[in-house]
Amino acid sequence: MSSDFFQSKKPWSPYKDMILSYYLTPYLPKVCSLGKPVIVVDCFAGPGRFGDGTEGSPLIIARAVAQIAQKGKAVSALLLEEKKALFRRLQANLGPHEFCCHPKQGSFEDSAKEIARLAQTHTVFVYLDPYGIKSLHFATLAGIYENIRRGSSVEVLLNLNTPSLVRNGLAILKCTQPADVKGDWVAEQEAEVDRTMTAECLDSIAGGAYWRKIVCGKGSFADMEQTCLREYLNKMGQYFDQICCYGVKAKYEHTVPKYRLVFGSRHPDAYVLMNDAVCNARDRFLGKQRVEGYLPGLDMRGEDEIHDPCRLERTVLDVLTAPTSRGDLVIRAMRKVFGEYKEAEHRRIVGDMIRRGKMFSRSGKSRINDHETLSRKPFKVVEPRHD
Ligand SMILES: C[S@@+](CC[C@H](N)C(=O)[O-])C[C@H]1O[C@@H](n2cnc3c(N)ncnc32)[C@H](O)[C@@H]1O
Repeated sequence: MSSDFFQSKKPWSPYKDMILSYYLTPYLPKVCSLGKPVIVVDCFAGPGRFGDGTEGSPLIIARAVAQIAQKGKAVSALLLEEKKALFRRLQANLGPHEFCCHPKQGSFEDSAKEIARLAQTHTVFVYLDPYGIKSLHFATLAGIYENIRRGSSVEVLLNLNTPSLVRNGLAILKCTQPADVKGDWVAEQEAEVDRTMTAECLDSIAGGAYWRKIVCGKGSFADMEQTCLREYLNKMGQYFDQICCYGVKAKYEHTVPKYRLVFGSRHPDAYVLMNDAVCNARDRFLGKQRVEGYLPGLDMRGEDEIHDPCRLERTVLDVLTAPTSRGDLVIRAMRKVFGEYKEAEHRRIVGDMIRRGKMFSRSGKSRINDHETLSRKPFKVVEPRHD
């Protein structure tokens, strides 16, 4: 990786920063109330500040953690950086946050067991933002995730470069390049191919050999990336009940994302919060391109980029196949349109649909909470018994 990486931020980097920051703000006070101390681990921290003055993940984390720690809550951050020069800059940049944020020089791999141990006694949020994929051996991560089975709260936000996984796979097995491998992102992707990587090493990163069949297949690069991602998320599904993923593209017109932000948690509330964090970032980045409502015929945006209430309504109705609580219904709909509409929009459309007779609540009210049961058919009115 070039030494000027920290000169200025890449155009696609603020997405992950914004999502991280948006998520941590309500997450930290909430998990602090669970009773266990809370620790946020930035496993690939970097120096904290870029040459252009913008903040990197360690300072974003430090600010969020310090705000809560100042109120006397048991919350801290562990910031890992392997390179000595960058570590020194990180120490200097932490400044007033050092009382609750602890930088450590060394590799993520060397600290992975310590993080796993911390997860036995702490609520842990793990942020992984490496340069590529080579440090992300699945078994190392699984050692941390395992603690969920023992009742710990572990959440992970992972910058997973699935295009790099496919690229490396194609190179290792000397497969024919898919036809859609063209355009300006190819050169950057080429730079991420590690010519020394073996098939066994990629198995260890991917958590299995599934990628071999995929890259030897006849699909497009975009298909290969998506299939590898699905397999990877299935592996994570052994540990997390709630998994979501968002592809950050370098350019609007690209069909393959620059990287995938993958999130895992066991809490449905965390899933909802991450949905809102992604939605917020998309709105901010697409800016004027993405506004409420749109002019049919004039609008050139993809349907997933518009807060189109009709599409949300169709989605909610599609997933309401049997009576279910509003909380469940919103999560099910969110899985279909992840990161496209905030939770408040989902709730609002449910209330609207009850008022318009498109769905029914057991209580008959349209102002309801997440426990209220909803159905596409009216509920039978139970006659009072007179015996
Ligand atoms: C993509 S940068 C992280 C950027 C950071 N998240 C930010 O927002 O500013 C990856 C960082 O991880 C460091 N690094 C690389 N390999 C590492 C490893 N195995 N363990 C810990 N740090 C590592 C690099 O020196 C680099 O500073």
